[in-house]
Amino acid sequence: MNLIVKESYDELSRYVAGEIAALLRGNPQAVLCLPTGNTPVGTYQELVRLHKEGRVSFAQCTVFNLDEYYPIDPSDPNSYRSFMRKNLFDHVDIRPGSANIPNGEAKDADEECRLYEQKIRNSGGIDLALLGIGRNGHIGFNEPDRELLLETHVVTLTESTLQANCEPFGSIEAMPKQALTMGLGTIMSAKRIIVIASGASKKFAVEKMLSSRITTDVPATLLQLHPDVTLVIDKAVGVSSEGTRWTR
Ligand code: PGA
Repeated sequence: MNLIVKESYDELSRYVAGEIAALLRGNPQAVLCLPTGNTPVGTYQELVRLHKEGRVSFAQCTVFNLDEYYPIDPSDPNSYRSFMRKNLFDHVDIRPGSANIPNGEAKDADEECRLYEQKIRNSGGIDLALLGIGRNGHIGFNEPDRELLLETHVVTLTESTLQANCEPFGSIEAMPKQALTMGLGTIMSAKRIIVIASGASKKFAVEKMLSSRITTDVPATLLQLHPDVTLVIDKAVGVSSEGTRWTR
């Protein structure tokens, strides 16, 4: 695993956008896994800027988003579909049919998960997964638990996730109580993974990711088993690389 510490959130965003743009220039048909959340917003802004300058095109790539609330109307302003449209998809040249997000209004959630997993496999597999990380070390909606599921699945949101995410909905009662998320196996099947973290609230999760121990209590620790993971953090996280890179 590589650890890269950037001076600021803006530098982190520029670096990660640069990595994605370089991948797409080398392989325009690349398959990307992308996250929602606050952390990737700067990366998406930078990608939009690069696209407007003619330095990156999404015209031939395929995106699979990590997760979506369930049930939710994709046009609901709080859906992850709306988030991706607002922050990236509506501002770049990605083909609508190539911007995949689990369908929050599918009649049969389990079937939707099975189809999503199948679609990822049929695409040839994920070339690069960009991931945020929760304060508790969750990845997507794979929350700390005794057991974790490998494939895309339905999760019932925990009280702490409902609390953390309810604000835009106005109340917990108004929120979807479930979500559809890629599993750790889906994520680990990506050829390359970049995890981004910004700010002191992520210190616990980042330290666990660098701990040389794995536990389902902190799902992100399992990423240490992947052969090509880069953890890109800003200085505000409070974890130093001491001028060295964690390389394994
Ligand atoms: P954040 O979310 O980027 O908003 O901190 C990350 C996550 O919870 O996965």
